[in-house]
Amino acid sequence: MQELIAQAKAVIANSYSPYSQFKVAAAIKAADGRIFTGVNVENASYGLTQCAERAAITAAVSAGVRQIDAVVIYTPTQEPAAPCGACRQVIREFSGSALILSICDSEKTLELSIADLLPESFQFEQGKST
Ligand code: THU
Repeated sequence: MQELIAQAKAVIANSYSPYSQFKVAAAIKAADGRIFTGVNVENASYGLTQCAERAAITAAVSAGVRQIDAVVIYTPTQEPAAPCGACRQVIREFSGSALILSICDSEKTLELSIADLLPESFQFEQGKST
């Protein structure tokens, strides 16, 4: 996890967050060992904002990753930030058990698995609906 933490902190300055001023960076570890990072990218049309976690996942999947083992979220705050619901669903797409560690500038951390963060998650099964 130390390498993920270091890489998330290394990219936090790239966060594009002029509207909220809330900087977020994420680093994810793929099952093949590769690490990918992302930051939140806001937009004048607020709803187009992309979260840091999804930016990192988009980079990983674009490089061929299909399995995620761990996600580190870093915010330069005094409290660790929990991933939003949309990011939980997107993390779940690529892992049922990924470890999520959220860190900040205090000693406080949040450490959970995606199974804990998103119980009974939606999975698509073609041809099945109730
Ligand atoms: N944000 C993330 O990057 N990840 C999350 O899981 C929650 C929120 C960003 C989006 C926006 O740029 C800012 O934090 C404030 O909501």
